[in-house]
Amino acid sequence: MCGIVGYIGREEAAPILLEGLSRLEYRGYDSAGIAVWSREDGLRVVKAKGRLQVLSDLVHGGADVHGTVGLGHTRWATHGEPSDVNAHPQVSGDGRFAVVHNGIIENYVEIREVLEAKGVKFTSQTDTEVVAHLLEYYYRGDVMEALTKVLHRVEGAYALGVICADCPDQLIAARKDSPLILGYGDGFNFLASDVTAVIKYTRDVCYLDDGEIAVLTRDGIQVYSHPYLLPVEKEHHQVNWEISAAEKGGYEHFMMKEIMEQPKAFRDTISPRIQNGRVVLEGLDIGEEFLGDMDRLYIIACGSSYHVGMAAKYTLERLLRKSVEVTLASEFRYCDPIVTDKTLALVISQSGETIDTLAALREARRLGARVLSIVNVVGSTIARESDDVLYTWAGPEIAVATTKAYSTQLAVVYLIGLYFAQKLGTIGREEYTGILDELQRIPDKIQRILERKEEIQYAASLYFNHASIFFIGRNIDYAVGMEGSLKLKEISYIHSEAYAAGELKHGTISLIEPGTLVVALASYGKLFEKLMSNVVEVKSRGADILGLTTESRKADMEKTADHVFAVPDTHPMLLPSLDVVPLQLFAYYVALMRGCDIDKPRNLAKSVTVE
Ligand code: G6P
Repeated sequence: MCGIVGYIGREEAAPILLEGLSRLEYRGYDSAGIAVWSREDGLRVVKAKGRLQVLSDLVHGGADVHGTVGLGHTRWATHGEPSDVNAHPQVSGDGRFAVVHNGIIENYVEIREVLEAKGVKFTSQTDTEVVAHLLEYYYRGDVMEALTKVLHRVEGAYALGVICADCPDQLIAARKDSPLILGYGDGFNFLASDVTAVIKYTRDVCYLDDGEIAVLTRDGIQVYSHPYLLPVEKEHHQVNWEISAAEKGGYEHFMMKEIMEQPKAFRDTISPRIQNGRVVLEGLDIGEEFLGDMDRLYIIACGSSYHVGMAAKYTLERLLRKSVEVTLASEFRYCDPIVTDKTLALVISQSGETIDTLAALREARRLGARVLSIVNVVGSTIARESDDVLYTWAGPEIAVATTKAYSTQLAVVYLIGLYFAQKLGTIGREEYTGILDELQRIPDKIQRILERKEEIQYAASLYFNHASIFFIGRNIDYAVGMEGSLKLKEISYIHSEAYAAGELKHGTISLIEPGTLVVALASYGKLFEKLMSNVVEVKSRGADILGLTTESRKADMEKTADHVFAVPDTHPMLLPSLDVVPLQLFAYYVALMRGCDIDKPRNLAKSVTVE
């Protein structure tokens, strides 16, 4: 989704803004723009549809635009097609204000009509343009006063960056429901959608909260609360990862780099939390009493995080003997959920900013639930608004298609399962120790799969031209199949669906014809034979079968499947962590062979901050 970066300092702003925007590219966008102020040229705005490179070429990498203060933006179109005019910054009619925005101004139609009736001319179809015109409308020489009035008038979600040609020694930022961070430097300061945009220049950041306005000058940042403009003291945070973590490091794509990082990310996530043969979850303040009385456990998430929830359901129900409901965040909000003060909502989000997940979290809390979240981005809104948070120590994830975040979220689910089961007394000592020991072997087993990635590459070369691909599985194999299917369709644009294998004959089998590819997941030993019956059913209707099972079952599966990849054997509960890796690799290689833009798939955004 849209990315914002703002710089005020002593260096030329344009190259810094372009560089910052390039770090935000991963969020997903379809146009980009910058606004830079200089005494000679005033407020200069350059915007272009398409990749950032188009904008960069227009201004020769920034060399054509002078000035030491400015704003940059990558736009992911919502209101109005991707185009030069709809790109941000949006500018007021008098050219005094330039505005960048992430979010949606929900009452923009009404505001636009009122302004048009007063003679204001709009040039774009965006909701954002009303903010620029409203600033002009309310401006009587005091920018903060005008902005306060604008914020009072607009409804919806926003992270805003504003520059006013009358006060070029300051940048202004405001936030409600869309992420915005501030970066503190020596003689310069930044605002940005996330820390990746500023980390090259500073690690000293703070997270703007809802209802806050920040005024940035070269020498400092002052934050105020809206609407009375009372000064707010912000807590500073130090970003503790290296910029290299957000660079490709010799890989052709971030996605492959992140797939390869999974053993380390998994280990980093579990190791500090296993001490003396026990799971220790520091900061988690949920005791036996709450767990014993817990009436419902909801898992709430979107996209791949939701798929982690699907796998978690099988794991947690088995370990805790409590029923677990997995709900899409976008549905949870509006389904009148049954929640009490004995309900636990487990919220899963890589970015910690997904708007539907955040809204569902707020709804769950409003209704009385206790919220425990699994989040990757430290300091993100979901992390800050949860009662308890467990971080996945995966490091920054840049590729739109998530891989290491999925794996580390699963790792945390296992830890939570074991921790709660022990508290509830639903697990015996031997089983507990057995699972925990095996959990610590998972990183090495993932590594062994990665060392055989050429086998998957070969399988991809056999099937990359298929028009339609089905993933089938039972139990946790079904849950992993959902993720495998999503990964494939996201980046290769091949139509793909995942089915619980037993459901096939209730409709979908009518789509199976000679040449259809079925990826059959048969790693869950208990249901191996049942799954193989479904494989025979589709094979006899002409499907090609790509099988995924464990090493101990490989020979059995090869009797029916055309091609089989085997993962190392492990505890059944932990199988998703191994199964998902060949499926990620399969999606990657298929997309590569089809010439797709793997790290930036069309129409997708990494962090979905609008509804
Ligand atoms: C987007 C991303 C997915 C991600 C989903 C949920 O759709 O492209 O990869 O799974 O959002 O994101 P979250 O940050 O909440 O896990």
